[in-house]
Amino acid sequence: MSDVNVAKRAAAYAAADLVQDGMKIGLGSGSTFLFVIERLAERIKTQGLKVSGVPSSQGTADAATKAGVPLLTLDAVERLDLAIDGADEVDPQKNLIKGGGGAHTRERIVAAAAKEMVVIIDDKKLVPVLGKAFLLPVEVLQFGWKQAERLITATGGKPQRRERDGVPFVTDNGNFVLDCKYDGIEDPAWLGEQLNALTGVVDHGLFVGMAGRIVVADATGKVRIIP
Ligand code: 5RP
Repeated sequence: MSDVNVAKRAAAYAAADLVQDGMKIGLGSGSTFLFVIERLAERIKTQGLKVSGVPSSQGTADAATKAGVPLLTLDAVERLDLAIDGADEVDPQKNLIKGGGGAHTRERIVAAAAKEMVVIIDDKKLVPVLGKAFLLPVEVLQFGWKQAERLITATGGKPQRRERDGVPFVTDNGNFVLDCKYDGIEDPAWLGEQLNALTGVVDHGLFVGMAGRIVVADATGKVRIIP
């Protein structure tokens, strides 16, 4: 297993071990999160853990179903005990960039329904300032997306429509994603508000003041938790 996967798995397993019997949890998305599903499935089989989860993407729903992790719809619960999810970057204030997988709109809704959002990352994702290396994903409606692109450009970003295999990437919500270069986001709360106000923007990948504990692991599998 690669160093990065050792780290991702260690962080994911540590977070999955925070889940207690009877909990209803939010299931994030992405390659790190797949290790949470793996560990939850193992705990269900070996410890008889009772847990059910609300998936934040079709990919997660499919993986959880395959692994035998019971699912719930968000509308069937009032509050989730915990949400666990990955991130693309985390700054010293625990603000996040998410959306590398294009699932950030649902991930935010699921995390907001939880008493705590636990974030799982490998230590390379800890950055002093968000958005210097990673492009900020912004989900926009397909209708009039060029107008949304123009409005985002006026906030200082350089958007580029995400493509997969030469065709536009479409989210689970049927929308496009614009990956936006900002050369460093000094005030994520301000930029998040600016983007939220733009016509045609569905949601962006800045998660400000949402993260609870950050579970970080390094390439040796050593885990630490930022409270
Ligand atoms: C998907 C996300 C993911 O959590 C984020 O991109 C991290 O992914 P990975 O664990 O594959 O590095 O926000 O929209």
